[in-house]
Amino acid sequence: MTLSTYEPTRLEMLLTLTLGHTLLSPYYRSFVRDLHLDPRERILDFGSGSGVCSRHIAAQVQQGHLACVDISHKWMEVLRKTLRPYRHVSYHLGRITELDLPVASFDRVILHFVLHDIPAHERPAVMQALARRLRPNGRLHLREPQGHGLEAAELAALAAAAGLRCQDFSTHKTAAGAVFDAEYRQ
Ligand SMILES: C[S@@+](CC[C@H](N)C(=O)[O-])C[C@H]1O[C@@H](n2cnc3c(N)ncnc32)[C@H](O)[C@@H]1O
Repeated sequence: MTLSTYEPTRLEMLLTLTLGHTLLSPYYRSFVRDLHLDPRERILDFGSGSGVCSRHIAAQVQQGHLACVDISHKWMEVLRKTLRPYRHVSYHLGRITELDLPVASFDRVILHFVLHDIPAHERPAVMQALARRLRPNGRLHLREPQGHGLEAAELAALAAAAGLRCQDFSTHKTAAGAVFDAEYRQ
């Protein structure tokens, strides 16, 4: 599968940006606020997309670092514009299994609505590559929409295979629909 398979349409980009900067902005802000990030933390935001979620993360860790990863050229261009005000951000285009990101170096890995977009056969390698980037005792936070092809049992198996310990799992209704939240430790 080529990387261009993942490119969004113009309509998808327009809708994502419009909603993400208006109606859904409070939703993203509260998702990030509830992570209780420390300003000095090093964060890996996996599947950053347009940056409508990442910009709230960037604002919280101004003395730390935010590494944004995405597989899409078009989203990466948009992301750079969204996060232009921030200097403590790095951009990484490509597959997490192939990127030269330091291992055992991030306090947190965050995935917001990403894993269900990845083909099921690629998920184990992705989770392992993300878990390797966490420092010892670092945390991985994941929010997924319910009913979009990733079930809780699969997620539990993926996390266990990547050596992650589940700290918390819950389901909620949000402005973005019904979701589940999971937190793991390295
Ligand atoms: C639904 S969007 C979510 C974007 C962002 N996290 C948010 O919540 O606003 C999913 C994102 O994951 C990215 N993505 C999909 N598969 C990926 C992969 N294998 N590696 C990195 N990013 C991927 C897509 O390009 C897209 O930007």
